[in-house]
Amino acid sequence: MIDIAELTEEQAKAELQRIAAEMAKSDIAYYQFDAPYLTDAEYDSLKRRNEQIEAKFPHLVRADSPSRRVGAPIKSEFSKVSHRFPMLSLGDVFSIEEVDDFILGVKRFLNTADTPTFMCEPKIDGLSFSARYEHGKFVQGATRGDGTTGEDITANLRTIRSLPLDIKGPVPDILEVRGEVYMSKADFFALNQKYESEGKKTFANPRNAAAGSLRQLDSRITAERNLSIFAYTWGEVSNRVWDSQADFFEHLRAWGFPINPLNKLCHSVAEIEQNFARIMEIRASLPYDIDGMVYKVNSIELQERLGFLTRTPRWAIAHKFPAEQAITTINNIRVQVGRTGALTPVADLEPINVGGVMVSHATLHNEDEIKRKDIRIGDSVIIQRAGDVIPQVVGVIKEKRPADSVEFEFPHYCPECGAHAIREEDEAVRRCTGGLTCPAQIIERLKHFVSRDAFDIEGLGSKVIEEFYRDKIIQNPADIFTIEQRNQPEVIDLFSPLSANSFRLQNREGWGIKSVDNLFKAINAKRTISLPRFIYALGIRQVGSATALLLAQNYGTFEAFMNDMINKDTAKLVSIDGIGGAMAKDIVEFFAEAHNLKTIHDLLAQVHVEPYVDNTRHDSPLTGKTVVFTGTLEHLTRQEAKSKAQSLGAKVAGSVSKNTDYVIMGADAGSKAAKAKELGVQILSEAEFLELIK
Ligand code: IVH
Repeated sequence: MIDIAELTEEQAKAELQRIAAEMAKSDIAYYQFDAPYLTDAEYDSLKRRNEQIEAKFPHLVRADSPSRRVGAPIKSEFSKVSHRFPMLSLGDVFSIEEVDDFILGVKRFLNTADTPTFMCEPKIDGLSFSARYEHGKFVQGATRGDGTTGEDITANLRTIRSLPLDIKGPVPDILEVRGEVYMSKADFFALNQKYESEGKKTFANPRNAAAGSLRQLDSRITAERNLSIFAYTWGEVSNRVWDSQADFFEHLRAWGFPINPLNKLCHSVAEIEQNFARIMEIRASLPYDIDGMVYKVNSIELQERLGFLTRTPRWAIAHKFPAEQAITTINNIRVQVGRTGALTPVADLEPINVGGVMVSHATLHNEDEIKRKDIRIGDSVIIQRAGDVIPQVVGVIKEKRPADSVEFEFPHYCPECGAHAIREEDEAVRRCTGGLTCPAQIIERLKHFVSRDAFDIEGLGSKVIEEFYRDKIIQNPADIFTIEQRNQPEVIDLFSPLSANSFRLQNREGWGIKSVDNLFKAINAKRTISLPRFIYALGIRQVGSATALLLAQNYGTFEAFMNDMINKDTAKLVSIDGIGGAMAKDIVEFFAEAHNLKTIHDLLAQVHVEPYVDNTRHDSPLTGKTVVFTGTLEHLTRQEAKSKAQSLGAKVAGSVSKNTDYVIMGADAGSKAAKAKELGVQILSEAEFLELIK
């Protein structure tokens, strides 16, 4: 080996390349095949040599240099990455019957009697990532974020040694590989032990530890934590050279990505069930946490036919392991007031570890549930938690009931504001009638307003909202956008109209100039907001993010939506497939409340709501058209036809009106066809429809 002092530039370049290649090969052997071929000493000496050469020739440092795996200097915040292809999540099921239903649904959609082959993969309990490669070089890493926009974690991902930085051999020019970042159980325990001995706060589970390590603004910290990855899906790809999930895994393997060795093709429900049982048995002995299995239709042609629901694919599902249970006692029962005034009883529990997570509260749902299960304060109860859902009380252990247990009397007054709490006929929940005179409702609305799927304002968490409400800094959503203006300099001008409500955030406990500055930045970043988020943020009863998206797609602008609602013109609203009568009623009622209109008015003075832009195809003959299907189709199932039309930019309505552009008529069409004729709406046969969308 040439002495570093003697290396020419040419030689240094070649040497850096050799070392990068050698170490990458060793990483693959180590991480993917568990078969190290360099000893630790050899590996370290290569690493050192690399560093020394780079120190002498800094301009020769390679993008895929092993030294760049040690982290880059601290950043002040993550920049955002928008995903060209959204990072979706999966629907959850908890039993083999539900898996069976899912597969039946797939078959029905595809109109086939044959069970398709499924790729069955352990569901890694970590954080998803997306790694973008251009011409084989790792160029960008991102978190999932809200699925559409994630955070740029390029420097952090680069420190994970099992992630290839330079893919050799034939590879698409653009390739986004997605998968899960996780921390092994052993590394998690070691990290916690170290933290404990240093008197630091420990992590609750490996998932949190992985998240905490990956989302470090100082990627040198990420580099010190031993994170690993499994790859399992893709995002944008310039030339998809695989035609099944199994085939994709073969490519990943060849490119040097770690893939889970337990991934397995199954051909029947029975085989899927057997495999599930087997993995559950070995679950505890695996070096990493898994929380279920993921089943994916193996054929990509079929995946494409199946397509997507709002946020999840129709061709895959997560089969979660059964909930974990534990026994503990109920110390107290409290009533919480939600955003819409619903009173929810909550049990305060003697804290207990349930499957690795400390649990100290459980929901009791509503007053009938308490009666039905005969739950009393002081009772020993079985509680369970499954995935991310709030822990629940499964039942009481009556034999252990103490003599002094206390029955809970459900209040008929709001515990927060004292207003009457009434229960409408046929309703399971009792609601506070205080509306916006009830502080609990206001606070919950504010929390909803800034939550992840709404305005998603970093730095305005639940605690801060509560504090700011209490101290009269924020009373309604629009106030959020005037905080900066009201945050007066040290000397308060007593004659300024603003001074009555001014304050110095940076003087509050827990705040400093930097954090206040960050908060203002985070707020100002949300002065422009997408239409679906804005509608969702309003907190209209029953309007979740999927419904908000539907409304945005159908109305296009907030003004159009609000106009119809204020005029109680529900023709368009009720024609939207997926919006029923009860929901329409709640929406109209929301806009009939003067205080809601005032909130909206104040907000619109502060924020700009973007008109809805459709990312689906703009060049299709169905773009922007409203279509109605009727009768039985021959070549497509109704569901398939519907999702095809939607993916081409059409709105699918449930009934024919003057707004309908096309009625697609199958066999035995009934009144809708007649209505179309009456209104002069263009009617297409199935063949004509297929021709149109070809
Ligand atoms: S596939 C469109 N495969 O589970 C399909 N996800 O609940 C996208 N996850 O966000 C996901 N292991 O973080 C897939 N083998 C696996 C997985 C997996 C873990 C996570 C992932 C995803 C979440 C969905």
